[in-house]
Amino acid sequence: MDFNIATIPGDGIGPEIVGSAIKVLEKIADKYNHTFNFTSYLAGGCAIDECGISLPTETIKGCLSSDSVLLGAVGGPKWDDPDAEDRPEKALLGLRKELEVFANLRPATIHKSLADACVLRKDIVSEGFDIMIVRELTGGIYFGDRGGGIEDDCNFAYDIEKYNEKEISRVVKLAFEIAMKRSKRLVSIDKANVLATSRLWRKVCSNLSINYKEVTYADMLVDNAAMQLIRKPSQFDVIVTSNMFGDILSDEASQVTGSIGLLPSASLGEGTRGLYEPIHGSAPDIAGQNKANPIATILSAAMMLKYSFNLIDEANDIENAVEKALDNGARTQDIASDGDKIIGTDEMTDKIIQYL
Ligand code: IPM
Ligand code: MG
Repeated sequence: MDFNIATIPGDGIGPEIVGSAIKVLEKIADKYNHTFNFTSYLAGGCAIDECGISLPTETIKGCLSSDSVLLGAVGGPKWDDPDAEDRPEKALLGLRKELEVFANLRPATIHKSLADACVLRKDIVSEGFDIMIVRELTGGIYFGDRGGGIEDDCNFAYDIEKYNEKEISRVVKLAFEIAMKRSKRLVSIDKANVLATSRLWRKVCSNLSINYKEVTYADMLVDNAAMQLIRKPSQFDVIVTSNMFGDILSDEASQVTGSIGLLPSASLGEGTRGLYEPIHGSAPDIAGQNKANPIATILSAAMMLKYSFNLIDEANDIENAVEKALDNGARTQDIASDGDKIIGTDEMTDKIIQYL
């Protein structure tokens, strides 16, 4: 089969890790007789430097005419001025909105051979966990009205959180569908004891749950959820939550696994086109030094094969190759323990390709 993939390397380690994922995809194309056509686009800080804007029109057009999008990371200290009109992160939010990818899937799993990297107590880690966070991505407080001014001789600012039933129901439905394919457990996380948006969220979830009788569904307040994720992560399977809560809880969950450099993400909409990117950032401190862990991006490419192209065997092949490389002791600096031999981005990529 033939697929057009838009790549957005971005800033910092972005170009290196996207390069790794492309190498892996090329190997898959070779092995399974597919053609992947890659076209690279600018977004983030590098786009501000080259085009004067974080998300150029050409990038939006290129992504919209592609079969899927693979992104590295954006941002860096060079573009961190809080008063700047445009920022690299704006490109990310713009892309999500333009591509209408309303559901962000963020798995948080313990890799067996890396259980030592997990920050939790051994007895909690030994139970293992495999969580899929489904975060609403194109609505809520991220996209609500915001502003500020002066009132009573005092500066003020506000950000509005607003959700309608349609926005909630499409992402919750997708979470129920994912739960059906996993262990049929879904927890919706909100702040219904305080927020009106959360009360609407809860009502929509409860109505939808009637259509998914096989799924054990529960609501949980976000403050409690933050606690439970550390206390007993194995109680969760699929989680669905709003944009803001999902942002915070997915960072917490990824840190709990101890290996944020390994975690991929997929952002999906109604069609098959998705936006795939690692969960970690652009790590400017190690950019261009062949030190970055390419696994999160490689696993994001695997998610692309699975969710956008329905190439399940190919996706599993990549996941197994990553597992084998880790089982056989391949370690970039971020996941190395004392005494481990540390390898670079290129060597890790080659090792994974070896197992394909
Ligand atoms: C993420 C990031 C972004 C977000 C930032 C960079 C705008 O934290 O993808 O989780 O808040 O969505
Ligand atoms: Mg975040």
